[in-house]
Amino acid sequence: MKFFIDTANLDQIKEAQDMGILDGVTTNPSLMAKEGITGTDNIMKHYVDICNIVEGDVSAEVISTDFDGMVREGEALAELHDQIVIKLPMIKDGVKACKYFSDRGIKTNVTLVFSPGQALLAAKAGATYVSPFIGRLDDISTDGLNLIAEIRHIFDNYGFETQILAASVRHTMHVIDCAKLGSDVMTGPLSSITGLLKHPLTDSGLEKFLADYNKGN
Ligand code: G3P
Repeated sequence: MKFFIDTANLDQIKEAQDMGILDGVTTNPSLMAKEGITGTDNIMKHYVDICNIVEGDVSAEVISTDFDGMVREGEALAELHDQIVIKLPMIKDGVKACKYFSDRGIKTNVTLVFSPGQALLAAKAGATYVSPFIGRLDDISTDGLNLIAEIRHIFDNYGFETQILAASVRHTMHVIDCAKLGSDVMTGPLSSITGLLKHPLTDSGLEKFLADYNKGN
């Protein structure tokens, strides 16, 4: 399973990259705003800064909601760097724009997916990634992980190559459950990645090994 980090914070992206386990980055307008990155020029520059830190795909979201606007924005984003993936909302024009970009060999990530039918439409339009938001479904007492299982089942039935990118991952158990269910990618905060390191038996075991080593020195 690929690990993406879901942030626009450059320090956190560097930390995950330095661990050697990072496969890409996802961002959205809310994550940009959280880092104080506003205005088109600053946002575009920030995407390039992110691409210069990581080696994998970097999702950059359009803010237009009509086909022509999405194509115009997406083409400008794709020009920025060859790691950029155009992130499009799951609405009718987003599906149409997804088909437009996939026909031209430009990678896409269809976002704000909350149902298997939406994921199927994205796959039919040739999306590189489809992003089901599992945490936000959990927030409204709906099983987000079940959506991952349903999409996996449907994609496997037909051999769709669209990768399932579990998004709105909030914690380590989401990561582990997504891996069990066969999600191709997960994107989450740095804490959902570094949290996987933690086990008290690792800490106490290491402490004992070091103490025993030091007895002889
Ligand atoms: O990847 C989607 C993500 O940014 C949304 O996460 O935690 O705001 O639901 P969250």
